Amino acid sequence: MAEPPRPSGAARDESAPTAAQLARRILLAADPAAKQQAAHAAWAIASAGRLAEPVPGGPAAPMPDRPARPTRPLLLPPAAMPKRGRAGSPRARFALLHALAHIAFNAIDLAADMAGRFGHLMPPGFASDWFRIAAEEAAHFAMLAELLAEQGGSYGDLPAHDGLWEAARATSHDLAARLAVVPQVLEARGLDVTPAMIARFRALGDARAADVLARILNDEIGHVAAGNRWFRQVVGDSSGEAVQRFHVLVRAHFRGGLKPPFNDSARAEAGLATDWYQPLCARCPPWS
Ligand SMILES: [Fe+2]
Repeated sequence: MAEPPRPSGAARDESAPTAAQLARRILLAADPAAKQQAAHAAWAIASAGRLAEPVPGGPAAPMPDRPARPTRPLLLPPAAMPKRGRAGSPRARFALLHALAHIAFNAIDLAADMAGRFGHLMPPGFASDWFRIAAEEAAHFAMLAELLAEQGGSYGDLPAHDGLWEAARATSHDLAARLAVVPQVLEARGLDVTPAMIARFRALGDARAADVLARILNDEIGHVAAGNRWFRQVVGDSSGEAVQRFHVLVRAHFRGGLKPPFNDSARAEAGLATDWYQPLCARCPPWS
């Protein structure tokens, strides 16, 4: 016999954590180990379907203006960052891996903020998707930290640049703008630059680092794809509206334009055909 229909709201598990609560735990964890653990815990809850359902039209939950940070690395303005050393030298390789670890560390927070700040506006799959991405970023950080350890160092040994939260701050009021800039501009940039890094590490005989970056590149295609999929859903995807809206939002919220060369095949796999990014290219000749 079919179960009688439940009164509206009776199925809601009052003890289930909200996306905002889980996101705050990630964002407010300063220590790298605690932040990684919070990201994996959030994804375990989300993937088991134990996330509280978003309340349609519910109030926006307060999210921290800035995520908590460990005492090291020293954060510097991008222009004040020291040079990485002679290309291919052990010092330069360590500095590159350190910079990538810093990007992954920030990406944990960017994904958590996406889930926590905007999850109440979206279907449950949205927060779950971004908690999966936060957990993958935590795994990337762990792999990069291990490479740093194999070279006798650790995350925090070098200064790191403090500009990565800027895109989040500039788009904290607007989900479409956030989805345009963070996954589809910043993370998409990772798709463009990582293949050359993989080739460089292979040429230097560092297969371990090359393999780690290849795994990261593969996951990052999925992050850009998630951004593109949710962006199309938020802005509507009919008659070229999504791509036009993307151009307007990127021009409004991202300074400087996009830099070639582009990884066309990885971008296409993520849903970004050339008409999405070529018109935003800052240094492309007009005939390209
Ligand atoms: Fe990512």
